[in-house]
Amino acid sequence: MISSTSDSNVKNLSRSRVDSDEFSLKIKFSKNKKVDTQKLHAYDIKKYVNPDNFNFSEDMQELIPKDTPPFYDNGENYVERIVRALGYFKQCACIGPSGTGKTHIVYLVAELTQLPLWEINCGLQTSAYDLFGRYIGLGKENWIDGIITSWCRHGGILYLDEANMMKQDVATKLNPILDARGHMVLNEKDNELINRHKDAYMIISMNPFSSEFTGTKPLNAAFRRRMSVWLNFDYMSVDNHIDEKEINLLLERTGVPRDTATSIVHVAAKLRQEYKNGDLPYGPSVGDLANWARIIADGASPVDAGNETLVAMTSDDYEIQDEVRKIITSVDWGITTTSNDPKELIILAIEKSLLEIGKPDLNKVKERLMDDYNRTLADCYDEPEFLSRILKDIYGKAHVTIIDSIKKNLGNMTSSQPIQKFLEQIAR
Ligand SMILES: Nc1ncnc2c1ncn2[C@@H]1O[C@H](COP(=O)(O)OP(=O)(O)O)[C@@H](O)[C@H]1O
Ligand SMILES: [Mg+2]
Repeated sequence: MISSTSDSNVKNLSRSRVDSDEFSLKIKFSKNKKVDTQKLHAYDIKKYVNPDNFNFSEDMQELIPKDTPPFYDNGENYVERIVRALGYFKQCACIGPSGTGKTHIVYLVAELTQLPLWEINCGLQTSAYDLFGRYIGLGKENWIDGIITSWCRHGGILYLDEANMMKQDVATKLNPILDARGHMVLNEKDNELINRHKDAYMIISMNPFSSEFTGTKPLNAAFRRRMSVWLNFDYMSVDNHIDEKEINLLLERTGVPRDTATSIVHVAAKLRQEYKNGDLPYGPSVGDLANWARIIADGASPVDAGNETLVAMTSDDYEIQDEVRKIITSVDWGITTTSNDPKELIILAIEKSLLEIGKPDLNKVKERLMDDYNRTLADCYDEPEFLSRILKDIYGKAHVTIIDSIKKNLGNMTSSQPIQKFLEQIAR
């Protein structure tokens, strides 16, 4: 029952008294749509799937992704093409190696279209109970829908990751939902027939490149025929193609200097090509590169940081790990530190200059420092004279070239007072 206290200031309200106990009024405030309209305007998708037409319950709205980062492509318009496929056929397949952003774009599409997202990884041992539902407790009173059943009843996007790994019994149950029949039958629940909700969309994804290492199965043939649109995904940078946008993405996400980000992407492009050739079990995603870059930005060398991240994540196999390490050391890393510590910069510059001649040269200088003077490279900052003597001794007149190279590698840091002092002393 609604009643309002008479208030002379609110005349209308005082007249709108409802004097009946049988009357009940439910007022529902529709929340503002959570989609960032700016984001939506960037894509021409409303003509295919229009978020304004949906009306999901509050529980379901919880399943709509939020704040999905942008997806970068080179004019392929993946977002629009996925939404177009959903608009016309209700379902679509995304094919591509792992780490190419398939999951990412599905989240973005769900956010842009304001569709709740139900996600299943078919490669995991998810039970039929979890997928279709079960009775809980004794007897047959309390049935709980599984993920697929919930999706079919209430709508949204069902995302089947690694769809080729799907078990046969799951595929068999999905087939009638996906064709003209558009329904599913729950044998477990007295053959209840559930019609596909009018806003129930499906996206499947699979990875065609993992066959050698993980024994990927081909997609179930009946299932394959029910997908009308197939979109191919690839890495932003691969082989000789380096995408500036991927470098920028690392800069955005991690704070490494640009030349480091560039070297990281070069390594990634090589690793990915090896993966596509079947020589490595995994190709790194931008996300993996960002993890590597974060450790470098914290002060670790690219090789050390690479060992902790990319090398270990690619494989347990030592030979394969060596292969990855080789690729990491094959690119030019410059002096990669975000530190302004003159001592650290000088050590790095000396190392790099000697490495440019060759690894044995670096080792030889280190050995001589230790054998003759009981010093390490780290001591050269405070006591440059030892390094100066050794360089003269090993390289004779050519030692000036090495000092020039150290200077060059210090770049614009040579204007700092302690570095100038070091350069003067070592040149004596
Ligand atoms: N084109 C892209 N634009 C933005 N981020 C991307 C892109 N491709 C991959 N990523 C990032 O790489 C990582 C792996 O992507 P993910 O969607 O999990 O790949 P997949 O599902 O294909 O294995 C995520 O951090 C994702 O944000
Ligand atoms: Mg994925």
